Amino acid sequence: MKLWIIGKRGLLASAMRRKCLEKGIDHVATTRKEVDVEDEKSVRAQFETMHFTHVINCSGYTAVDQAEEEEARAFALNRDAVALLAKLAQEHGKKLIHFSTDYVFDGEKEGYQTGDPTAPLSIYGKSKEAGEKELHPEACLIRTSWLFGQEGSHFVKTMIRLMEQQETLSVVNDQKGRPTYADDLAEAALSLLDASGTFHFANEGETTWHGFAETIKRKLEEKNHPLRCHTIEPVTSEKFGKAKRPASSILLTENLQPPHWEKGLEEVLAHAFES
Ligand SMILES: NC(=O)c1ccc[n+]([C@@H]2O[C@H](COP(=O)([O-])OP(=O)(O)OC[C@H]3O[C@@H](n4cnc5c(N)ncnc54)[C@H](OP(=O)(O)O)[C@@H]3O)[C@@H](O)[C@H]2O)c1
Repeated sequence: MKLWIIGKRGLLASAMRRKCLEKGIDHVATTRKEVDVEDEKSVRAQFETMHFTHVINCSGYTAVDQAEEEEARAFALNRDAVALLAKLAQEHGKKLIHFSTDYVFDGEKEGYQTGDPTAPLSIYGKSKEAGEKELHPEACLIRTSWLFGQEGSHFVKTMIRLMEQQETLSVVNDQKGRPTYADDLAEAALSLLDASGTFHFANEGETTWHGFAETIKRKLEEKNHPLRCHTIEPVTSEKFGKAKRPASSILLTENLQPPHWEKGLEEVLAHAFES
């Protein structure tokens, strides 16, 4: 078994690589420069020259607000590149593991099971939904939500920076979801390497972005980390972002039993400040 991890320096790919190293799983990871998944020639060459058994597609257009103005770019990466990977994986007999998002749902339900109909509200959500539809039944699709981790850009990193700089922050409290630690998702993905179909993986525990920010602040204070921030104002999402996001996008994880997101948060803070 050998994994090809696409999107080498991204948030999830970095966690996948760490978990592979920890578990001694043979893998190769590529950056966009090495293999551009939007370039058919480049992807074909990889399939023809590299030995691997599984394609772990951690690439994606993930700029949710920017996607509202860059629809073509979002669809090129989130739909067309997925279609190409799915086609070549099938042709070459490789297993494809692909990731999608809670933003394929409209947020009208309290919780979403894998079989629930999708109804994305944003261009990003629509492009991810379109990518899901390109997969073959043998592929493994894992939907996740509100990712954070040791590397990459994400909410926890942004909050730490802002809490160090500003006395007051405004954070939305009208969207509910399940924050997910990329390392836990990577572990789950490694346990699903031979599975087919759709899975939901998100850490245990629901919160709002405001609740998430309050917890980050409390844990930083417990560590005596110097913060300027004393108040986190709860605000509505109208004030923020161009893209419409689901009000409640709780992914129900069915047979998977993920740990609580606060445990992942503690690991990220320990990694950031204690190493
Ligand atoms: N982040 C979240 O909160 C979240 C939530 C739900 C689902 N997801 C899904 O989880 C997956 C991983 O997300 P992430 O947050 O880890 O993403 P990320 O940190 O934004 O990383 C995406 C990676 O894709 C690479 N990439 C972009 N264009 C490429 C191309 N043409 N060819 C090859 N690689 C390319 C990027 O490389 P460069 O840096 O070189 O451009 C980057 O390393 C995505 O499918 C995403 O939709 C994420």
